[in-house]
Amino acid sequence: MSTSGSTTLMDTADELSSLLQRRVPEMTFYSPYSFLRNINPETLCRETFIEPLLQSVYPGKATVSAVTTNGQKTYIVWKALPWDSEHFHRRVFRIELVTSDHDNAEAISVALKSFLVKFTERGDYLFITVPCEDLPVLHALSYAGFRMVETRLNYFFPGFIAVEDVKAPVRMAGEEDIPVLREIAMRKRNRFDRVHADPAFTDKEADNYLGTFAAQCVRGFADIVMVPDIPGVKPFGFLAANNPEKIMGVNIAKLVLAAVDNREYRGWLSDLLLGVMYELKKKNTDVLTTITQASNRPAIHVWENAGFVLGFVNHVYSYSAK
Ligand SMILES: CC(C)(COP(=O)(O)OP(=O)(O)OC[C@H]1O[C@@H](n2cnc3c(N)ncnc32)[C@H](O)[C@@H]1OP(=O)(O)O)[C@@H](O)C(=O)NCCC(=O)NCCS
Repeated sequence: MSTSGSTTLMDTADELSSLLQRRVPEMTFYSPYSFLRNINPETLCRETFIEPLLQSVYPGKATVSAVTTNGQKTYIVWKALPWDSEHFHRRVFRIELVTSDHDNAEAISVALKSFLVKFTERGDYLFITVPCEDLPVLHALSYAGFRMVETRLNYFFPGFIAVEDVKAPVRMAGEEDIPVLREIAMRKRNRFDRVHADPAFTDKEADNYLGTFAAQCVRGFADIVMVPDIPGVKPFGFLAANNPEKIMGVNIAKLVLAAVDNREYRGWLSDLLLGVMYELKKKNTDVLTTITQASNRPAIHVWENAGFVLGFVNHVYSYSAK
């Protein structure tokens, strides 16, 4: 087995680029918008997955490692996450892609193991999201000692034409709501989300991460944070969303985070959703996306009831270096 040896990083990036161009027909499911069935799947994959990936590889924001095993080459594209590393007090990396010029899962797993030995040190944490269609990579991750932590259902809502102002009693959150929203995000633990489901983190670390995420949403990480507006009652839930972005001519917005303390008031995720949808309709949204876990039955019920349709499924795997 050998690594990229004397080839330069630029050579490796060029090799990856030509491999991706060749493999487009087999990897169209890597586009995060592969549910847009009226756009050519290969064009979608090139424009919304391959180009953004290469734009982060060429200037060095992401690193490519190439490993050759018995003449078969595997490429691993990865990125350090400084914010997450500081938050979790360990080096955190996201693997953006594992791809190869072959479909041999064992060879991919040998490449992954070699990559882990070469680039990680004790305490490091890595994670990767893989489409459910990429079986060789999923098998290889298991052989290499990665664990499956989350199965994600990626939903989309295409029905803005019918969205109306239902006058739901909701309002936008302000800075003054941060303490209560942080508390709800921490208390309403979703034990199937990526961090809670991962034995790499304690419940306290995972709760704290979600609490910080909720606070950051109000501070501007999300464009919209909607909360219940009942006179005399503190907000007991929230739904955060981002404004639409034009993706190949379609205005696509996304839901970012939700939690509702339903001890006293039930069914509020639906009310918050109606409020967010109306807000997004005013911003000319065509499609709204959201992600939940295959295990999150209340959320699945709410999204499907509102008209969301399943777009694609992927799995999150993680690895803790020992
Ligand atoms: C998901 C969540 C926001 C839902 O809050 P809510 O709207 O107050 O929850 P409800 O208890 O009213 O349930 C919502 C709907 O799911 C239905 N539901 C509840 N459990 C269900 C189950 N096991 N199977 C199917 N449907 C279920 C409820 O009947 C309700 O539907 P209805 O209004 O048509 O009766 C809340 O449970 C939560 O904060 N969970 C933790 C964080 C989380 O999972 N966030 C969402 C990530 S996508």
